[in-house]
Amino acid sequence: MTLENKEAWGSRVGLVLAMAGNAVGLGNFLRFPAQAIQNGGGAFIIPYLVCFLLMGLPMLYVEWATGRFGGKTGNHSTPYIFGSLDKRAIWKYLGVLGLFTNLGICAYYTYIEAWTMSWAWHSAAGHFMGMNADQVAGFFTSYINLETSEPILMWVLCVGVNTYILSRGLQKGVEMAAKIGMPLLLLFGVILAIRGVTMTAGEQGASFSGVLGLNFLWTPDFSTIWTPKVWLSAAGQIFFTLSLGMGSIHCYSSYVKPKDDIALNAMSAGWMNEFVEVVLGSAIIIPIAVGYLGIDKVAQMTAAGSGLSLGFQTLPYLFTQWGPFLSAAAGIMWFGLLFFAGITSSLAMGTPGLAFLEDRFGWDRRWAAFAFGGAVLLLGIPCVLSQEAFGEFDYWAGTISLVVFSLAEVILFAWVFGMEKGWAEINAGADIKVPIVFKYVIKYVTPVILLVVFVGSLPSIWATIMKPMTFQVALARGLMLGMFLGLLALVHFSDKRKVTP
Ligand code: ALA
Repeated sequence: MTLENKEAWGSRVGLVLAMAGNAVGLGNFLRFPAQAIQNGGGAFIIPYLVCFLLMGLPMLYVEWATGRFGGKTGNHSTPYIFGSLDKRAIWKYLGVLGLFTNLGICAYYTYIEAWTMSWAWHSAAGHFMGMNADQVAGFFTSYINLETSEPILMWVLCVGVNTYILSRGLQKGVEMAAKIGMPLLLLFGVILAIRGVTMTAGEQGASFSGVLGLNFLWTPDFSTIWTPKVWLSAAGQIFFTLSLGMGSIHCYSSYVKPKDDIALNAMSAGWMNEFVEVVLGSAIIIPIAVGYLGIDKVAQMTAAGSGLSLGFQTLPYLFTQWGPFLSAAAGIMWFGLLFFAGITSSLAMGTPGLAFLEDRFGWDRRWAAFAFGGAVLLLGIPCVLSQEAFGEFDYWAGTISLVVFSLAEVILFAWVFGMEKGWAEINAGADIKVPIVFKYVIKYVTPVILLVVFVGSLPSIWATIMKPMTFQVALARGLMLGMFLGLLALVHFSDKRKVTP
């Protein structure tokens, strides 16, 4: 079945901002600092950068090239993008993971996005002023324990905003949101980062200078370089932050015109993400928290968490030390920044599902957007009701699925489709000369790294499966399994339909 590309990006700037917005997300500002602290600060940086160069960049080329190739035959969702590289049914069914992951992550991601809306509002209204640290922390705890209806209302509103933007289409919705959201995010990020690193010990109640946190993070530590856990964490962070292995990059890239560049665009979006993560992401939350609390306390607070507690419980309290005006401004910028980071990523997670319904079932974009919103609300219910279920979604959809999908796609691209054709595809229309070394890295190094990451994850998968299952966990797993089987069935069913191009 060959369909036409009904939509396309309006401009190159719009495409790069949308792709960068896809990558830049909550992971850059909350997950990265927490991962870095948990893995010993400077010990994390070397594995992180190695994983970026040997896995992150090569996979960006693979995903952009695979996506644009699929788009030539009018396919915008990974089952059929994979199918355009090789006709054997196994690839199409493996491509279903690219729909599964996006929906699964969206289920909890939009919920955190909703918290940022609430917290921006509470900061603007000065609700944290006059509270002590325990009260601010308790405010968050009662919020996520659903002691009021606010979290649910805000989440429904947040999913509604995502649905509305998606229903407006690629140019008027996604691209416009990126053109507004990304510059604001950068502006807020730069202001807060300057504030973080210029914080001085002894001023406004800070015990340490902000640069202490930055030094901790950026002083390489070679002593733990052979620790597997640090490498697995670094690889996991690279996946999550670049939105690799999700299917969203493929989908966005499938709307690039066949003769347009992808090589320079992929690098621009990828490096923009790294700038936001390692420069801005490390210069806000860690320096401010370390400035008041010291490294040991911050390490203790983030020992098992994902940065959410630091971002939503600790920072709003620390902002209040700056007085009513600056505290409100900092809260609006911090939570506004998180909101823009989040929504530009969740829109990218929504697009593949919409494209699937449009391409294969001929649905109108608006109805497809409603279907997406409805599915996210349904799947998100256990995540809203239980933190355990939230963790299950993050683990299976947000961690394991990415690795399996990436391993499959690099084998498909480099070994089944073939590296000669793949290399030609990466270089078609390229505005930069892609270093030839990437051809060999993609063929030999990246698949081995992905295999090692996958094998390294097996003990954790086994331990997770073996843990006694609570009702919430069973519900989350049941929903994810149902979603996966449902998507497989839809793909199977869509092939049987006679569609008139
Ligand atoms: N790449 C997105 C993030 O970092 C998913 O949050």
